[in-house]
Amino acid sequence: MPMILDQLGQRFRLLRLWETGGETALEAAAPHIRALASTVGGAPVDAALLDRLPKLEIIASFGVGYDHIDAAAAGRRGVVVTNTPDVLTEEVADTALGLLIGTVRQLPQAERYLRAGKWREANFPLSPSLRDRSVGIYGMGRIGRAIARRLDAFGVPVAYFSRTAHADVPYPYHPDLVALARNVDTLIAIAPGTPETRAAINAEVLAALGPRGILINVARGSVVDEPALIEALKTGTILSAGLDVFADEPNVPAELIAMEHVVLLPHVGSAALYTRQAMAQLTIDNLVSWFEGRGPLTPVPETPWRNSPNA
Ligand code: 8YV
Repeated sequence: MPMILDQLGQRFRLLRLWETGGETALEAAAPHIRALASTVGGAPVDAALLDRLPKLEIIASFGVGYDHIDAAAAGRRGVVVTNTPDVLTEEVADTALGLLIGTVRQLPQAERYLRAGKWREANFPLSPSLRDRSVGIYGMGRIGRAIARRLDAFGVPVAYFSRTAHADVPYPYHPDLVALARNVDTLIAIAPGTPETRAAINAEVLAALGPRGILINVARGSVVDEPALIEALKTGTILSAGLDVFADEPNVPAELIAMEHVVLLPHVGSAALYTRQAMAQLTIDNLVSWFEGRGPLTPVPETPWRNSPNA
């Protein structure tokens, strides 16, 4: 975002690696680089890149998910990784509910119907409802909880599965995804994209969700076995899906695009100006705080810092 470039440019010697010929610029600057600003969808920050940056101290990532960064490798090298938690929680939960209602009540389809002039011919067909549904949430971190709070207010029963059961969470916990899917008809994914969550929502989970099943994914494309999802949607193994994230963004499988009954968004979970400005400010503030000797503001658990909640 321009505000990140402006503010970092004022305080630091800023190398715009994505626009200055990438590899050549990196080659020349690598021995001197002390900080990286990075984001999901940008170049992966893997062990090979870290090996080339001997002076690196901190990687400030824009976004709460940092699956593009090998944070464990950074930690082993004494490099701190920061992300932007909290400031996007409510926005992503809002989007999740919007996508859920849009998908269940077929609002995008109804809108297309009106614009196509079809209302004059007949009323839009009756849709499924949230009123006779129960929702399983996969991932009960900050955003999962914010989604659950909203569903509470909507009078929709919630259950969940996450790596561990949380004593402070009042909803029923299921020991695995298949058990959760069997007990609900609507599944919302908001788990982090990690090797453990990769393709966790697979053919077996989708079969357990069943023919009334609706999958909402606001997490990462990687948590769903995308070919299995396409197959399940084609064969009626589940009813529908609302997807904000995909395996290979921004490339969305043509088979999904051809499906009139699914709702597809271009990864807009946090993409409101208000929230993106807060995320940008936190990215900047982490770097400024670090170079003023005050430590990182929001280090990730793999690279804890003294005095931080993660330490
Ligand atoms: C990204 C996201 O930040 O926070 C996340 O994990 O997925 C988004 O909010 C966005 O894609 C930035 O590129």
